[in-house]
Amino acid sequence: MQQVKLGIIGGGTVGSGVYDALQRNGALVASRLGVNVVVERVAVRDLKKVRAAKIPKTLLTTDWREVVFDPQVQLVAELIGGTTIAREAILAALKLGKPVITANKALLSAHGEELFAAAKKYGTNLYYEASVAGGIPIIKALREGFVGNRINALYGIVNGTCNYILTRMKLEGADFGAVLADAQRLGYAETPPDLDIDGHDAAHKTGILASLAHGFWINPKKIHVEGIRHISALDIKFAGELGYTIKLLGTVKKLEGNCRVQVSVYPTLVPNSHVLASVNGVFNAVFVRGDVVGDSLFYGRGAGKDATASAVLSDIGDAVLDLKSGAKNRLPAFVPHECSGAVAPIEEVTSQYFVRLNVVDKPGVLARIATIFGESNIGISSVIQPEGHEGKSVPLIFMMHYATNGAAMKALAKISKLPSVKGRPVMIRVESFE
Ligand code: NAP
Ligand code: HSE
Repeated sequence: MQQVKLGIIGGGTVGSGVYDALQRNGALVASRLGVNVVVERVAVRDLKKVRAAKIPKTLLTTDWREVVFDPQVQLVAELIGGTTIAREAILAALKLGKPVITANKALLSAHGEELFAAAKKYGTNLYYEASVAGGIPIIKALREGFVGNRINALYGIVNGTCNYILTRMKLEGADFGAVLADAQRLGYAETPPDLDIDGHDAAHKTGILASLAHGFWINPKKIHVEGIRHISALDIKFAGELGYTIKLLGTVKKLEGNCRVQVSVYPTLVPNSHVLASVNGVFNAVFVRGDVVGDSLFYGRGAGKDATASAVLSDIGDAVLDLKSGAKNRLPAFVPHECSGAVAPIEEVTSQYFVRLNVVDKPGVLARIATIFGESNIGISSVIQPEGHEGKSVPLIFMMHYATNGAAMKALAKISKLPSVKGRPVMIRVESFE
């Protein structure tokens, strides 16, 4: 049987997962592809580290160049993360005409166009199924399965760490910090985990999905990003009372006008009746609305050793078949199409809102706040004021009708300056999925 020799850069959570999965299911992969994939070299930082996978010492090196430039290595998997050495290693491999697999969404987000151009220039390819939504084959679905669809909307729970934290805060009343430490221990979180909890990892992934859906590579600086640090037990509780669950959602929506798209990541109130509200723990889900297919849902583990290894193995499958057939660029990593496009500034995007204020409980406060919303032409759909104690601070919750984000932010800035409003107002968008 034909053999393809694989070099892996990185032997951490994902690298170890890939090595293990190949030991476990390599024969199955070979019988399906007609090609035996053999791990030739693995680069790590520390040779003495105890690893989840039993990688033979003879394969290990601390120099990624010994992987990339090894003449035996035909296919390279970059699984170290970061945007410096990873970029250098991928460019070096592509320059040698070697196909590369990466799980590195931060790198693709920042330098995707440069890497795709290099793959094209040197007649090879870059594969990145593991970069979005762990084990869910969403890249393949968008590029191949939905090739005949315009994607009118896409909503993704694409960060396993945040979903794990929000789920445990809701279901167990668990403390944010303790749950984050568990996510790190389980290998879900990025290094540093701020990338997860501040929404940047989800933005990298949402940008990749938006680019594939709309045909122009999204500039990550244009994505409006909010993380989950400011979400409190109170927000989760009141959202629950109103029939919603808070999820960190990547949103990609086609807007009126020529190729204008909303691309954003923010905590969102999802109605409990919507399927995305039931996506719990480390699970991810991507909801896609195509103009031909209608609504589709993809669900699976979004992070961790095995789920991500499964996606890397899928790319290994594509890459070895392309090598075997000689069709190295059968489906290039990214093909611009349809739109040259623009990401709409968040101020122009229309949403509904949940607003939580901490106010002094005294007569006239509610009226003053309602006046500011009224003057800003933002309608209130409901108000909750739990019984408080006269003169003390109490939460005050508003559900607001549709308004532009610009108008909502301006109104809240005015409200936050009222002497009776204590601390920073919390504003969470509400999605109706209509
Ligand atoms: P990780 O556990 O921190 O592993 C990183 C690995 O890279 C380690 O083995 C480290 O060596 C090695 N490494 C770092 N710098 C190196 C260098 N200069 N030369 C050689 N080896 C180097 O990270 P991970 O969770 O596996 O993530 C890897 C990539 O997959 C990232 O791009 C991440 O965003 C992406 N990803 C992760 C997940 C997940 O659930 N973890 C899911 C999807 C995508 P040592 O072991 O010796 O320190
Ligand atoms: N840190 C990422 C997450 C890993 O939690 O989703 C998977 O990409």
